[in-house]
Amino acid sequence: MSNYLKLVALGFIALFAALAANWARDLAYQVHALIIMAVSGGMFLWVLRRTDEPATAVDETRYMDDVIRAGVIATGFWGVVGFLVGVIIAFQLAFPVLNLEWAQPYANFGRLRPLHTSAVIFAFGGNALIMSSFYIVQRTSAARLWGGNLAWFVFWGYQLFIVLAATGYLLGSTQSKEYAEPEWYVDLWLTIVWLAFLAVYLGTIIRRKEPHIYVANWFLLSFIVTVAMLHVVNNLSIPVSIWGSRSVQVFAGVQDAMTQWWYGHNAVGFFLTAGFLGMMYYFVPKQANRPIYSYKLSIIHFWALIFLYIWAGPHHLHYTALPDWASTLGMVFSVILWMPSWGGMINGLMTLQGAWDKLRTDPIMRMFVLSLGFYGMSTFEGPMMSIRAVNSLSHYTDWTIGHVHSGALGWNGLIT
Ligand code: HEM
Ligand code: HEM
Repeated sequence: MSNYLKLVALGFIALFAALAANWARDLAYQVHALIIMAVSGGMFLWVLRRTDEPATAVDETRYMDDVIRAGVIATGFWGVVGFLVGVIIAFQLAFPVLNLEWAQPYANFGRLRPLHTSAVIFAFGGNALIMSSFYIVQRTSAARLWGGNLAWFVFWGYQLFIVLAATGYLLGSTQSKEYAEPEWYVDLWLTIVWLAFLAVYLGTIIRRKEPHIYVANWFLLSFIVTVAMLHVVNNLSIPVSIWGSRSVQVFAGVQDAMTQWWYGHNAVGFFLTAGFLGMMYYFVPKQANRPIYSYKLSIIHFWALIFLYIWAGPHHLHYTALPDWASTLGMVFSVILWMPSWGGMINGLMTLQGAWDKLRTDPIMRMFVLSLGFYGMSTFEGPMMSIRAVNSLSHYTDWTIGHVHSGALGWNGLIT
């Protein structure tokens, strides 16, 4: 885009944000409008300083790695923030007095808990996924990232989304949907960033020089496309006013609950599983310096996994107003899901055949193996917890929290 067009767009956004801050109906919205005004104003100056200056030449034959390095730093940074908030809320659970009186209502458990879940899943996990997909797609396609600076837009746009989501939680803006708490305008912004991410990714695959599309890309593409679909449908809502953060969901009652857990479970399936399997399929063979154990298995378990995951959501709603048939359907699909999930674990672990000695010397390999072990355990435990009779014992207990962290901290944390 020409710099003049950018300046017009940024100026317009800064002006609109100033008006929004002025007419804001609630604190979260006002703070967000001020953040957007500051960001677009800052970018306006930044672009202005570069306008009509000679452009620095870009070597199109090289991979675009700067944005990936920035992503690694962001992943580390948000990881520290997210884990720290996890430790704080763990202390708050054990010692409720730590819901400090003077910090109310901003730092109570109810606001910090979604801050933890979103910081670790979307900020830590999301940055890890976006950056490793940029890394993997370039190397498996033998092509530079498509779209020039669009990858940088994805990086900074995603960080802005994180800041808006996190400050929103602290200031009490939420649509009360677990893992999808941000309000309508933050959701709209994420949709734009995510479509740009899809464009960079697909554009790179389309201009690949390697005829074959390696299986890691199948997993990563399914992650990007499905998350877009889940995000848009689950966040369908009507704002009460364009000058405020409140919105009303278009679904109501049990339909809303079902849509929410269709989203929630597939956030596990496509964000925390398919995306990270893409990472696994590239880095485990690379680190072991061996080909993947079975390419055929990787294709079969890919299709089985994406077909089955999408039906399993109702296991989050056993013994609710959801009809029994839907609950049974979710349970059956979850139990079957055990097999394709283990397909990934088996393929990863068996890739080490003949390279197990590396465990003695290579700390990265140890992390991979442990990560796959946790993946296997949580995807055995999950199907078991989906069985209605087992769920009547596990739901409302710390068993769920244990399951979550065996998957999220064990599998996603260690592989990252
Ligand atoms: C130092 C590391 C971590 C600590 C101390 C920690 C601590 C906690 C605590 C105390 C809770 C609330 C439990 C409750 O309400 O009973 C929680 C929930 C949660 N954490 Fe973590 N966590 C950590 C790492 C992670 C990571 C890496 C992820 C994901 C990538 C994660 C994802 C979640 C999720 C999804 C929940 C909500 C579970 C639910 O609603 O069932 N955590 N965590
Ligand atoms: C075959 C795979 C899996 C199945 C069938 C499964 C099934 C389940 C079940 C039955 C629950 C408890 C629902 C409830 O009682 O409310 C649950 C919760 C959860 N699982 Fe899994 N799970 C699987 C894999 C994973 C993995 C690999 C992760 C993370 C990487 C994960 C993350 C979560 C989270 C975050 C929750 C908490 C949801 C909430 O906030 O209530 N699951 N899962």
